Amino acid sequence: MKFIKNVIGPELLTFEKKFAESVKSQTMLLDRIMKYIIKRKGKQMRPMFVFLSAKLQGEINESTYRAAALVELLHTATLVHDDVVDESLERRGFFSINAIWKNKIAVLVGDYLLSKGLLLSTSHDDFEHLRLLSEAVKQMSEGELLQIEKSRTLNLKEDIYFEIIRNKTASLLSSACAVGAYSTSKDPHITNRMKMFGEKVGIAFQIKDDLFDYGKEDIGKPTGNDIKEKKLTLPLIFTLNKVNAAKRRSLIYIIKNQNRDPEKVKQVIDTVLEAGGIAYATVMMNQYRDEAMEILYEFPDGEVRKALEDLVRYTTDRKY
Ligand code: IPE
Ligand code: IPE
Ligand code: MG
Ligand code: MG
Repeated sequence: MKFIKNVIGPELLTFEKKFAESVKSQTMLLDRIMKYIIKRKGKQMRPMFVFLSAKLQGEINESTYRAAALVELLHTATLVHDDVVDESLERRGFFSINAIWKNKIAVLVGDYLLSKGLLLSTSHDDFEHLRLLSEAVKQMSEGELLQIEKSRTLNLKEDIYFEIIRNKTASLLSSACAVGAYSTSKDPHITNRMKMFGEKVGIAFQIKDDLFDYGKEDIGKPTGNDIKEKKLTLPLIFTLNKVNAAKRRSLIYIIKNQNRDPEKVKQVIDTVLEAGGIAYATVMMNQYRDEAMEILYEFPDGEVRKALEDLVRYTTDRKY
């Protein structure tokens, strides 16, 4: 992280000011909520990917800043909505928007953030930004919906899991890298390669997030929430395919009927650990990380590429 800050530190500072400016509202309640959101900013990894992808090709410019703001606005909007969908009361170490202001307001706040992103782009005729990011927003909704559908039937194959996370998470990271590169190069081949790079990183990113859910560490949001929401993620999918039929039935029974019982959820987590589900997901995560690195190595070596390598490594080694 330190090296990354050396390469794009000033840009990130400017970004924060612009981002705060872009969500201002004349409506008192909205303004209060926006201040709350800005104070509890996240890791800002997506803007980092935008800036580094841009800098890898040329000089960061005003359109790069708008791309970074658009991506972070969309990301924040989806988090606000995601916490409603997942009935999650903690985000970034504090109460989630729905925990404080309830679902109705959280839904509208998410829409407000989305519209602010759209306005930022349309007011500058950033149509390529909009084209790349609208596709991502569509995929994110599809991914979250497919996930809900699958949590109802509890019948999940690995390939569907990857389809879900490619849609709900990797699509935005992928567009972030593409839009960053586009802001400084306009070369379709480069934009496409960076898109593919971002997708690989995004898949590794979500596997990491799903692994956190099995841990006990404080990550600023609830753990054990996925089982509670009947979300089958890679460690559990692997485990369900590995254990014998009786064990599988008992796991499914807990996930279906006893997912609010902490003792039972712990049983599931312990079984996943014993069956090697965590180890397996870690191997898969690192595989995607390595594939991302391979794409990165197509670009000339230098401090920007090194910073991007660091950021990819941070994606899989981070503590929250
Ligand atoms: C959380 O993303 C949502 C997922 C796609 C897993 P981040 O972990 O990047 O969230 P913040 O912005 O740092 O809080
Ligand atoms: C990612 O999934 C959510 C989005 C892509 C919007 P999760 O539901 O696992 O994200 P967290 O864990 O709540 O941040
Ligand atoms: Mg969630
Ligand atoms: Mg999660």
